[in-house]
Amino acid sequence: MSAVAAIGQIERSLLQVRSLHKNFGGVKAVSDISFDVPAGSIFSVIGPNGAGKSTLLNLISGVYQPDSGSLSFNGTALSAMPAHRRVRLGIARTFQKIRLFKQLSVLENVIAGFHVHHHIPAWQYVTHGAAFAADQRRCRERAVQLLHFVGMSGRLDVLAGSLSYGEQRMLELARALATKPQLLLIDEPAAGLNAAEVDGLLDRIRSLRNDRMTVILVEHNMDLVMNVADRIMVMDYGRRLFEGSPAEVQKNPAVIAAYLGGELL
Ligand SMILES: Nc1ncnc2c1ncn2[C@@H]1O[C@H](COP(=O)(O)OP(=O)(O)OP(=O)(O)O)[C@@H](O)[C@H]1O
Ligand SMILES: [Mg+2]
Repeated sequence: MSAVAAIGQIERSLLQVRSLHKNFGGVKAVSDISFDVPAGSIFSVIGPNGAGKSTLLNLISGVYQPDSGSLSFNGTALSAMPAHRRVRLGIARTFQKIRLFKQLSVLENVIAGFHVHHHIPAWQYVTHGAAFAADQRRCRERAVQLLHFVGMSGRLDVLAGSLSYGEQRMLELARALATKPQLLLIDEPAAGLNAAEVDGLLDRIRSLRNDRMTVILVEHNMDLVMNVADRIMVMDYGRRLFEGSPAEVQKNPAVIAAYLGGELL
């Protein structure tokens, strides 16, 4: 193989994180974190409660700004860029604490997720012109497809507030996907899911990867992480304890001592 071909085979890094720091008062929530996420891969972040996993997702999605360090997405520096611009750039997320419009239907919740990608001039919304109707139809069709993907085709008109916990998690996923992200950040998607629902989630994350989406998965459910992740970063007290493949993480004595205990043995 030629050198050029070999270089072409090296996975392009979609997200580069360098020396990120975030303190809350005296708490070093994220401390000197650096890593690369190759395009089209599933990168998982694990670690004990309070390790800094959600803070890291908040720094990537722009909910928080880092005290120092840098983030680069597709070669674009994210520093100081507000969260809504990062969504337009192709970064979407779900939250550890579910955030849905409880008084809206399942379908309406997903349609609300499309607001960043309307294709028509703003005045059409005021006059309700033909393009407005076409845009509404497109959004509705796509929302129906996404709800089919998360297994909720039969629940389109149900109010989000009356869904089971597992269904609410799947609705959040569908809504995040409505922005057509290149990078999807998911914070504990399996929390509160039953075994069958976790299996469904596993299939869906794999299917997203088949579609070349890049995923950062924060999760406590080790079965899910070990089955789906390409690489895993282990955090503890804000710091990176270890990074490697699932097999390497399961073998690493420091990881086992600090976090995994007998869970994987
Ligand atoms: N907005 C905030 N203000 C003050 N402290 C915070 C804030 N957000 C997080 N922290 C603190 O930062 C540390 C890391 O919290 P974080 O939520 O990132 O952990 P986590 O790894 O997501 O934990 P869990 O597994 O319980 O979700 C904790 O000590 C937490 O109390
Ligand atoms: Mg968290």
